[in-house]
Amino acid sequence: MNNTPPLTGRPVISATGLFTPSESISNEELVASFNQYVDRFNADNEAAIAAGEVDALSHSSVEFIEKASGIKARHVMSKAPILDPATMAPRLDDRPNDEISVMAEIGVIAAKQALERAGRDVADVDAVLCAASNMQRAYPAMAIEIQQALGIDGFGFDMNVACSSATFGIQTAADYVRAGNAKSVLVVSPEITSGHLNWCDRDSHFIFGDVATAVLVEDAAIAPANHWEVLSTKLKTVFSNNIRNNFGFLNRANPESAQDADKLFVQEGRKVFKEVVPMVAQMIVDEAEKLQMDPATLRRLWLHQANAGMNRLIAQKVLGHEANDDESPTVLDTYGNTSSAGSIIAFHLNSDDLASGDTGMICSFGAGYSAGTVFVRKVA
Ligand code: COA
Repeated sequence: MNNTPPLTGRPVISATGLFTPSESISNEELVASFNQYVDRFNADNEAAIAAGEVDALSHSSVEFIEKASGIKARHVMSKAPILDPATMAPRLDDRPNDEISVMAEIGVIAAKQALERAGRDVADVDAVLCAASNMQRAYPAMAIEIQQALGIDGFGFDMNVACSSATFGIQTAADYVRAGNAKSVLVVSPEITSGHLNWCDRDSHFIFGDVATAVLVEDAAIAPANHWEVLSTKLKTVFSNNIRNNFGFLNRANPESAQDADKLFVQEGRKVFKEVVPMVAQMIVDEAEKLQMDPATLRRLWLHQANAGMNRLIAQKVLGHEANDDESPTVLDTYGNTSSAGSIIAFHLNSDDLASGDTGMICSFGAGYSAGTVFVRKVA
């Protein structure tokens, strides 16, 4: 006899998982090493600077970073080389092909936690999406490596939509459930953002941190009693060069070469701020309207964690008043910007206290531009 309940085609989030690297860099540590790097650079280039051939670099400041971004610290996979003024980049040893790769390894830790929290047997999982803003190699897919490490019989593939990767992954997984093509899908976002951050660039060296998250999207029929009904998912992209990284398989980057700075993260932060806030706020309000929901009734917003000021403005436009920490929690202070994982960390750490029937919204935005919303309702 087959005991599997009939599938409903209604997607839910059954559970989430989080891996946080043990090492963390405070703003004070970051700025001290950056300023040493600057002093060295200016001393090494004294003559060229005096001749007007090279621009002198300026010191960074703890006060600026906290005021401009809300970030106080960030977790990283490889602290010492980032803080070494002679290196200013993470150094993760190459691993032989018969060892699990580092992105898959941290993805597996987050995924196992999500599976455990859902009480889910891997035999019931159909697919793994590895959704992140950078992949450590072209192929085989990290998703398939994670699939193998977990012992899942199904399929997996990598997808990259920069900071919006996780919400795009959730919609993709939800669509598999809606179409009846899968009943249980893991969306894993290992974000080793320290590898694509230019730690020598004063304008952005403070932004990113490393982490891995996992979201288990399932058909309501097999979900645990405690879950989050997915009320709607909505994605949007609008081309912009304002956040860009030119690294790719047709070129090679040397992170220590100024000529290669465009092979790392670069952005026009002010323009991003000005253009993305209204785009995202409007998208959320429109989606709420489609759901015949007053956005002010959303119990909690789990927003992308890029900048505290952006989140304050978006939340205000959506809720109609300045949001407090309970309405729009931030993890920026300790995690920094963790690209696509940010809104999932906020959700993971700040959702257990909501009551059955409460509605909320997970939202991401970033390079592309790209933005994604996932409206959810707690079922307990
Ligand atoms: N320390 C001290 N001063 C700094 C500094 C640092 N680390 N970085 C920049 N400054 C200076 C600038 O040189 C500038 O000086 P000036 O006024 O003399 O020209 C001044 O501080 C303001 O710099 P600006 O870059 O305009 O700051 P900002 O207020 O726009 O804040 C960001 C910068 C990046 C925090 C902000 O623009 C932002 O968060 N934008 C959105 C970013 C985002 O979400 N990106 C998505 C990535 S996924």
